Amino acid sequence: MPTLDIPISIPTPSSVNVDLDPAKLGFGTTFSPNWFQCEYRNGAWGHARVEALQNLAMHPAAIVLHYGQSIFEGLKAYRWADGRIALFRPRENARRFARSAVRMAMPPVDEEFFLEAVRSLVRTDAAWVPKEPGTLYLRPTMMGTEPCIGVRASHEVLFFILALPCGAYFKEAGPSGAGTVTVYVAESTTRAAHGGTGDVKASANYAISLRTIEEGKKKGCSQVLFLDSGGRRQVEELGGMNVFFVEDGALHTPPLHDTILPGITRDSVIQVARDLGIKVIDTPINIDDAADRMESGHITEMIACGTAAVVSGIKELVFESGRHIHIGDGAAGPITRQLNAELQGIQFGRIPDRHGWTEIVA
Ligand code: PLP
Ligand code: COI
Repeated sequence: MPTLDIPISIPTPSSVNVDLDPAKLGFGTTFSPNWFQCEYRNGAWGHARVEALQNLAMHPAAIVLHYGQSIFEGLKAYRWADGRIALFRPRENARRFARSAVRMAMPPVDEEFFLEAVRSLVRTDAAWVPKEPGTLYLRPTMMGTEPCIGVRASHEVLFFILALPCGAYFKEAGPSGAGTVTVYVAESTTRAAHGGTGDVKASANYAISLRTIEEGKKKGCSQVLFLDSGGRRQVEELGGMNVFFVEDGALHTPPLHDTILPGITRDSVIQVARDLGIKVIDTPINIDDAADRMESGHITEMIACGTAAVVSGIKELVFESGRHIHIGDGAAGPITRQLNAELQGIQFGRIPDRHGWTEIVA
Protein backbone atom coordinates (compact mmCIF):
# COMPACT_ATOMS: atom_id res chain seq x y z
CA MET A 1 0.00 0.00 0.00
CA PRO A 2 1.55 3.38 -0.97
CA THR A 3 2.32 5.78 1.86
CA LEU A 4 0.12 8.85 1.75
CA ASP A 5 2.31 11.83 2.32
CA ILE A 6 -0.15 14.67 1.93
CA PRO A 7 -0.45 17.50 4.47
CA ILE A 8 -3.64 17.78 6.56
CA SER A 9 -4.90 21.33 7.02
CA ILE A 10 -6.31 21.97 10.50
CA PRO A 11 -8.52 24.82 11.80
CA THR A 12 -8.12 26.43 15.24
CA PRO A 13 -9.37 24.26 18.13
CA SER A 14 -13.07 24.63 18.86
CA SER A 15 -14.76 25.44 22.14
CA VAL A 16 -17.76 23.58 23.54
CA ASN A 17 -21.32 24.83 23.52
CA VAL A 18 -23.29 21.70 24.40
CA ASP A 19 -23.69 19.79 27.67
CA LEU A 20 -21.05 17.01 27.69
CA ASP A 21 -22.47 15.27 30.78
CA PRO A 22 -22.08 11.55 29.86
CA ALA A 23 -25.36 10.78 31.64
CA LYS A 24 -27.23 13.05 29.19
CA LEU A 25 -25.34 12.38 25.96
CA GLY A 26 -26.57 8.98 24.75
CA PHE A 27 -25.06 7.73 21.49
CA GLY A 28 -25.12 8.75 17.88
CA THR A 29 -26.80 12.13 17.54
CA THR A 30 -24.43 14.71 19.06
CA PHE A 31 -21.53 15.71 16.80
CA SER A 32 -18.38 17.70 17.44
CA PRO A 33 -18.11 20.87 15.27
CA ASN A 34 -15.42 19.58 12.88
CA TRP A 35 -14.78 16.60 10.66
CA PHE A 36 -11.95 15.21 8.56
CA GLN A 37 -12.33 14.85 4.79
CA CYS A 38 -10.14 13.62 1.96
CA GLU A 39 -10.99 12.71 -1.65
CA TYR A 40 -9.66 10.16 -4.11
CA ARG A 41 -9.83 11.35 -7.72
CA ASN A 42 -7.83 10.60 -10.88
CA GLY A 43 -6.00 7.79 -9.10
CA ALA A 44 -4.73 9.81 -6.10
CA TRP A 45 -5.81 10.97 -2.65
CA GLY A 46 -5.75 14.73 -2.09
CA HIS A 47 -7.18 17.76 -0.28
CA ALA A 48 -6.94 16.27 3.23
CA ARG A 49 -8.40 18.66 5.79
CA VAL A 50 -10.14 19.03 9.13
CA GLU A 51 -12.88 21.60 8.72
CA ALA A 52 -16.30 22.65 10.03
CA LEU A 53 -18.80 19.78 9.72
CA GLN A 54 -21.19 20.35 6.84
CA ASN A 55 -23.71 18.45 4.73
CA LEU A 56 -22.42 16.45 1.78
CA ALA A 57 -23.31 17.40 -1.77
CA MET A 58 -23.45 14.32 -3.97
CA HIS A 59 -24.81 13.48 -7.42
CA PRO A 60 -27.97 11.37 -7.06
CA ALA A 61 -26.30 8.72 -9.24
CA ALA A 62 -23.34 8.36 -6.82
CA ILE A 63 -22.50 4.65 -6.70
CA VAL A 64 -22.84 4.48 -2.91
CA LEU A 65 -26.49 5.55 -3.14
CA HIS A 66 -27.40 2.74 -5.54
CA TYR A 67 -25.03 -0.11 -4.84
CA GLY A 68 -23.97 0.51 -1.24
CA GLN A 69 -20.21 0.82 -1.84
CA SER A 70 -19.42 1.97 1.69
CA ILE A 71 -17.44 0.91 4.75
CA PHE A 72 -16.84 2.35 8.22
CA GLU A 73 -14.90 1.98 11.47
CA GLY A 74 -15.55 2.79 15.12
CA LEU A 75 -12.98 3.80 17.74
CA LYS A 76 -12.95 6.09 20.74
CA ALA A 77 -10.87 8.85 22.35
CA TYR A 78 -10.78 8.67 26.17
CA ARG A 79 -10.20 11.61 28.54
CA TRP A 80 -7.92 10.48 31.39
CA ALA A 81 -8.26 11.93 34.90
CA ASP A 82 -5.08 14.02 34.35
CA GLY A 83 -6.65 15.66 31.26
CA ARG A 84 -4.65 13.73 28.64
CA ILE A 85 -6.58 12.14 25.77
CA ALA A 86 -5.83 8.62 24.57
CA LEU A 87 -6.85 6.39 21.67
CA PHE A 88 -7.24 2.64 22.17
CA ARG A 89 -5.55 0.32 19.63
CA PRO A 90 -6.22 2.73 16.71
CA ARG A 91 -3.79 0.87 14.43
CA GLU A 92 -6.11 -2.14 14.55
CA ASN A 93 -8.93 0.05 13.22
CA ALA A 94 -6.60 1.38 10.51
CA ARG A 95 -5.78 -2.19 9.43
CA ARG A 96 -9.39 -3.33 9.43
CA PHE A 97 -10.44 -0.20 7.51
CA ALA A 98 -7.89 -1.02 4.81
CA ARG A 99 -9.11 -4.64 4.64
CA SER A 100 -12.71 -3.47 4.38
CA ALA A 101 -11.79 -1.00 1.60
CA VAL A 102 -10.09 -3.73 -0.45
CA ARG A 103 -13.07 -6.09 0.01
CA MET A 104 -15.44 -3.36 -1.18
CA ALA A 105 -13.22 -2.45 -4.18
CA MET A 106 -12.04 0.92 -2.87
CA PRO A 107 -8.46 2.24 -2.62
CA PRO A 108 -7.23 1.68 0.96
CA VAL A 109 -5.56 4.53 2.86
CA ASP A 110 -2.34 3.50 4.54
CA GLU A 111 -2.23 3.04 8.32
CA GLU A 112 -0.10 6.08 9.08
CA PHE A 113 -2.35 8.39 7.12
CA PHE A 114 -5.48 6.97 8.79
CA LEU A 115 -3.86 7.47 12.22
CA GLU A 116 -2.75 11.03 11.42
CA ALA A 117 -6.26 11.89 10.23
CA VAL A 118 -7.77 10.54 13.46
CA ARG A 119 -5.22 12.39 15.62
CA SER A 120 -5.74 15.67 13.73
CA LEU A 121 -9.49 15.59 14.32
CA VAL A 122 -9.17 14.58 17.99
CA ARG A 123 -6.64 17.36 18.63
CA THR A 124 -8.88 19.95 16.95
CA ASP A 125 -11.97 18.87 18.90
CA ALA A 126 -10.13 17.85 22.11
CA ALA A 127 -12.49 20.03 24.17
CA TRP A 128 -15.34 17.78 22.97
CA VAL A 129 -14.03 14.62 24.65
CA PRO A 130 -16.39 14.14 27.62
CA LYS A 131 -15.23 13.05 31.07
CA GLU A 132 -15.26 9.33 32.02
CA PRO A 133 -17.42 7.32 31.47
CA GLY A 134 -18.15 9.44 28.37
CA THR A 135 -15.93 9.20 25.28
CA LEU A 136 -15.48 10.81 21.87
CA TYR A 137 -16.62 8.16 19.37
CA LEU A 138 -14.84 8.39 16.01
CA ARG A 139 -16.49 7.17 12.83
CA PRO A 140 -14.10 6.84 9.86
CA THR A 141 -16.18 6.20 6.72
CA MET A 142 -15.35 5.59 3.05
CA MET A 143 -17.71 5.54 0.07
CA GLY A 144 -17.81 5.49 -3.71
CA THR A 145 -19.11 8.88 -4.86
CA GLU A 146 -18.76 8.77 -8.64
CA PRO A 147 -22.01 9.28 -10.58
CA CYS A 148 -22.57 6.07 -12.56
CA ILE A 149 -25.62 3.83 -12.86
CA GLY A 150 -23.58 0.97 -14.33
CA VAL A 151 -22.72 -1.62 -11.68
CA ARG A 152 -18.99 -1.21 -11.10
CA ALA A 153 -16.59 0.14 -8.51
CA SER A 154 -16.42 3.91 -8.18
CA HIS A 155 -13.31 5.72 -9.42
CA GLU A 156 -14.00 8.57 -6.99
CA VAL A 157 -13.97 7.90 -3.26
CA LEU A 158 -14.62 10.01 -0.19
CA PHE A 159 -12.92 9.26 3.15
CA PHE A 160 -14.24 11.19 6.13
CA ILE A 161 -14.20 10.95 9.92
CA LEU A 162 -16.96 12.17 12.23
CA ALA A 163 -16.51 12.70 15.98
CA LEU A 164 -19.39 12.22 18.43
CA PRO A 165 -19.24 12.93 22.16
CA CYS A 166 -21.14 10.01 23.64
CA GLY A 167 -22.39 8.38 26.81
CA ALA A 168 -24.22 5.04 26.95
CA TYR A 169 -24.77 2.98 23.80
CA PHE A 170 -27.40 0.95 25.68
CA LYS A 171 -29.38 3.30 27.97
CA GLU A 172 -30.32 0.34 30.18
CA ALA A 173 -26.66 -0.70 30.63
CA GLY A 174 -25.54 2.80 31.67
CA PRO A 175 -22.65 4.95 30.33
CA SER A 176 -19.98 2.48 31.53
CA GLY A 177 -21.91 -0.35 29.83
CA ALA A 178 -21.78 -2.47 32.97
CA GLY A 179 -25.54 -3.16 33.10
CA THR A 180 -27.52 -5.75 31.14
CA VAL A 181 -29.61 -5.89 27.97
CA THR A 182 -32.15 -8.19 26.36
CA VAL A 183 -31.25 -9.83 23.03
CA TYR A 184 -33.47 -11.07 20.18
CA VAL A 185 -32.34 -14.36 18.59
CA ALA A 186 -32.89 -14.10 14.81
CA GLU A 187 -33.85 -17.49 13.40
CA SER A 188 -35.19 -16.59 9.94
CA THR A 189 -32.66 -13.95 8.83
CA THR A 190 -28.86 -13.91 8.93
CA ARG A 191 -26.27 -11.15 8.50
CA ALA A 192 -23.46 -12.97 6.70
CA ALA A 193 -22.72 -16.01 4.56
CA HIS A 194 -19.42 -17.66 3.63
CA GLY A 195 -17.67 -15.69 0.91
CA GLY A 196 -19.65 -12.55 1.76
CA THR A 197 -18.66 -9.48 3.76
CA GLY A 198 -19.37 -10.53 7.36
CA ASP A 199 -15.72 -10.19 8.42
CA VAL A 200 -15.36 -6.57 7.24
CA LYS A 201 -17.24 -3.44 8.25
CA ALA A 202 -19.28 -3.04 5.06
CA SER A 203 -22.29 -0.75 5.55
CA ALA A 204 -24.36 -3.35 3.67
CA ASN A 205 -23.98 -5.79 6.61
CA TYR A 206 -25.88 -3.31 8.76
CA ALA A 207 -28.48 -2.44 6.11
CA ILE A 208 -29.63 -6.05 5.94
CA SER A 209 -29.91 -6.31 9.74
CA LEU A 210 -32.20 -3.28 10.19
CA ARG A 211 -35.52 -5.06 9.69
CA THR A 212 -34.59 -7.72 12.24
CA ILE A 213 -33.38 -5.05 14.70
CA GLU A 214 -36.80 -3.36 14.42
CA GLU A 215 -38.57 -6.72 14.97
CA GLY A 216 -36.41 -7.27 18.05
CA LYS A 217 -37.20 -3.78 19.37
CA LYS A 218 -40.93 -4.52 19.19
CA LYS A 219 -40.23 -7.48 21.49
CA GLY A 220 -38.30 -5.32 23.95
CA CYS A 221 -34.80 -6.26 22.76
CA SER A 222 -31.92 -3.86 22.22
CA GLN A 223 -29.64 -6.13 20.13
CA VAL A 224 -30.00 -9.08 17.76
CA LEU A 225 -28.03 -12.33 17.95
CA PHE A 226 -27.37 -13.72 14.48
CA LEU A 227 -26.82 -17.42 13.76
CA ASP A 228 -24.98 -19.09 10.87
CA SER A 229 -26.56 -18.90 7.43
CA GLY A 230 -26.43 -22.69 6.92
CA GLY A 231 -28.34 -24.53 9.63
CA ARG A 232 -29.14 -21.32 11.57
CA ARG A 233 -28.24 -22.86 14.97
CA GLN A 234 -24.56 -21.87 15.41
CA VAL A 235 -23.94 -18.64 17.31
CA GLU A 236 -22.06 -16.01 15.27
CA GLU A 237 -22.34 -12.53 16.72
CA LEU A 238 -24.66 -9.67 17.56
CA GLY A 239 -25.62 -7.02 14.99
CA GLY A 240 -22.89 -4.69 16.29
CA MET A 241 -20.94 -6.67 18.89
CA ASN A 242 -19.15 -9.96 19.49
CA VAL A 243 -20.44 -12.39 22.07
CA PHE A 244 -19.09 -14.46 24.99
CA PHE A 245 -20.62 -17.01 27.36
CA VAL A 246 -19.38 -17.86 30.86
CA GLU A 247 -19.55 -21.55 31.80
CA ASP A 248 -17.77 -23.04 34.82
CA GLY A 249 -15.82 -19.81 35.20
CA ALA A 250 -14.37 -20.01 31.63
CA LEU A 251 -15.13 -17.67 28.72
CA HIS A 252 -16.49 -19.32 25.56
CA THR A 253 -16.78 -17.55 22.21
CA PRO A 254 -17.32 -18.70 18.61
CA PRO A 255 -14.07 -18.96 16.61
CA LEU A 256 -13.49 -16.27 13.97
CA HIS A 257 -14.19 -17.06 10.33
CA ASP A 258 -15.39 -15.13 7.32
CA THR A 259 -18.89 -14.50 8.66
CA ILE A 260 -17.82 -12.86 11.94
CA LEU A 261 -16.28 -9.41 12.40
CA PRO A 262 -12.92 -9.76 14.20
CA GLY A 263 -13.72 -7.29 16.97
CA ILE A 264 -10.89 -5.33 18.54
CA THR A 265 -12.80 -5.42 21.82
CA ARG A 266 -13.21 -9.21 21.44
CA ASP A 267 -9.45 -9.58 21.04
CA SER A 268 -8.79 -7.23 23.98
CA VAL A 269 -11.29 -9.08 26.21
CA ILE A 270 -9.58 -12.39 25.40
CA GLN A 271 -6.16 -10.98 26.33
CA VAL A 272 -7.44 -9.23 29.47
CA ALA A 273 -9.24 -12.42 30.57
CA ARG A 274 -6.03 -14.44 30.16
CA ASP A 275 -4.13 -11.76 32.14
CA LEU A 276 -6.70 -12.21 34.92
CA GLY A 277 -6.27 -15.99 34.87
CA ILE A 278 -9.65 -16.65 33.22
CA LYS A 279 -9.61 -19.55 30.74
CA VAL A 280 -10.77 -18.63 27.19
CA ILE A 281 -12.12 -21.28 24.84
CA ASP A 282 -13.04 -20.49 21.24
CA THR A 283 -15.37 -23.17 20.10
CA PRO A 284 -18.53 -23.51 17.96
CA ILE A 285 -21.62 -22.84 20.11
CA ASN A 286 -25.05 -24.25 19.27
CA ILE A 287 -27.74 -21.82 20.46
CA ASP A 288 -30.18 -24.53 21.62
CA ASP A 289 -27.49 -26.30 23.70
CA ALA A 290 -26.43 -22.93 25.12
CA ALA A 291 -30.04 -22.08 26.03
CA ASP A 292 -30.42 -25.47 27.76
CA ARG A 293 -27.22 -24.85 29.72
CA MET A 294 -28.52 -21.41 30.75
CA GLU A 295 -31.72 -22.99 32.03
CA SER A 296 -29.80 -25.65 33.93
CA GLY A 297 -27.55 -22.96 35.45
CA HIS A 298 -24.32 -24.14 33.79
CA ILE A 299 -23.97 -21.00 31.66
CA THR A 300 -24.12 -18.20 34.20
CA GLU A 301 -23.28 -15.13 32.11
CA MET A 302 -23.55 -13.94 28.53
CA ILE A 303 -21.59 -10.90 27.34
CA ALA A 304 -21.85 -8.40 24.44
CA CYS A 305 -18.65 -6.55 23.57
CA GLY A 306 -17.70 -3.87 21.08
CA THR A 307 -16.26 -0.38 20.89
CA ALA A 308 -19.63 1.37 21.20
CA ALA A 309 -21.13 -0.99 23.77
CA VAL A 310 -17.89 -1.74 25.75
CA VAL A 311 -18.56 -4.93 27.80
CA SER A 312 -22.22 -5.40 28.76
CA GLY A 313 -24.16 -8.26 30.29
CA ILE A 314 -27.00 -10.04 28.48
CA LYS A 315 -29.81 -10.90 30.88
CA GLU A 316 -32.39 -12.46 28.58
CA LEU A 317 -32.72 -14.11 25.17
CA VAL A 318 -35.99 -13.79 23.24
CA PHE A 319 -36.06 -16.30 20.38
CA GLU A 320 -37.96 -15.40 17.21
CA SER A 321 -39.73 -18.78 17.59
CA GLY A 322 -40.96 -17.82 21.05
CA ARG A 323 -38.53 -19.37 23.56
CA HIS A 324 -37.53 -17.05 26.44
CA ILE A 325 -34.36 -17.64 28.48
CA HIS A 326 -33.21 -15.73 31.54
CA ILE A 327 -29.49 -15.64 32.27
CA GLY A 328 -28.26 -15.30 35.85
CA ASP A 329 -30.19 -12.99 38.17
CA GLY A 330 -30.72 -10.10 35.72
CA ALA A 331 -27.65 -8.10 36.80
CA ALA A 332 -24.24 -8.25 35.09
CA GLY A 333 -22.34 -11.26 36.46
CA PRO A 334 -18.97 -11.11 38.24
CA ILE A 335 -16.85 -11.97 35.19
CA THR A 336 -18.70 -9.44 33.00
CA ARG A 337 -18.11 -6.74 35.63
CA GLN A 338 -14.47 -7.73 36.10
CA LEU A 339 -13.77 -7.60 32.34
CA ASN A 340 -15.65 -4.31 31.98
CA ALA A 341 -13.70 -2.72 34.85
CA GLU A 342 -10.33 -4.03 33.67
CA LEU A 343 -10.79 -2.96 30.05
CA GLN A 344 -12.10 0.51 30.91
CA GLY A 345 -9.40 0.84 33.55
CA ILE A 346 -6.81 0.46 30.77
CA GLN A 347 -8.72 2.67 28.32
CA PHE A 348 -9.03 5.50 30.85
CA GLY A 349 -5.42 5.16 32.04
CA ARG A 350 -6.25 3.94 35.58
CA ILE A 351 -4.78 0.44 35.13
CA PRO A 352 -1.27 -0.07 33.68
CA ASP A 353 -1.35 -0.83 29.95
CA ARG A 354 0.70 -4.05 29.73
CA HIS A 355 0.12 -4.47 25.99
CA GLY A 356 0.92 -1.00 24.60
CA TRP A 357 -2.71 -0.51 23.56
CA THR A 358 -3.17 3.15 24.44
CA GLU A 359 -1.77 6.11 22.50
CA ILE A 360 -1.79 9.62 23.97
CA VAL A 361 -2.85 12.14 21.33
CA ALA A 362 -3.57 15.36 23.22
N1 PLP B 1 -19.35 -7.18 15.38
C1 PLP B 1 -19.97 -6.24 14.64
C2 PLP B 1 -20.94 -6.67 13.61
C3 PLP B 1 -19.70 -4.87 14.86
O1 PLP B 1 -20.31 -3.94 14.15
C4 PLP B 1 -18.78 -4.53 15.87
C5 PLP B 1 -18.49 -3.12 16.15
O2 PLP B 1 -17.63 -2.51 15.63
C6 PLP B 1 -18.14 -5.54 16.60
C7 PLP B 1 -18.45 -6.86 16.33
C8 PLP B 1 -17.12 -5.23 17.62
O3 PLP B 1 -15.95 -4.75 17.03
P1 PLP B 1 -14.96 -3.78 17.80
O4 PLP B 1 -14.73 -4.39 19.10
O5 PLP B 1 -13.76 -3.72 16.94
O6 PLP B 1 -15.68 -2.48 17.92
C1 COI C 1 -18.86 0.04 17.09
O1 COI C 1 -18.95 -0.52 18.17
O2 COI C 1 -17.96 0.87 16.87
C2 COI C 1 -19.79 -0.22 15.99
O3 COI C 1 -19.51 0.16 14.89
C3 COI C 1 -21.05 -0.94 16.26
C4 COI C 1 -22.29 -0.16 16.10
C5 COI C 1 -23.37 -0.94 16.79
C6 COI C 1 -22.27 1.23 16.61
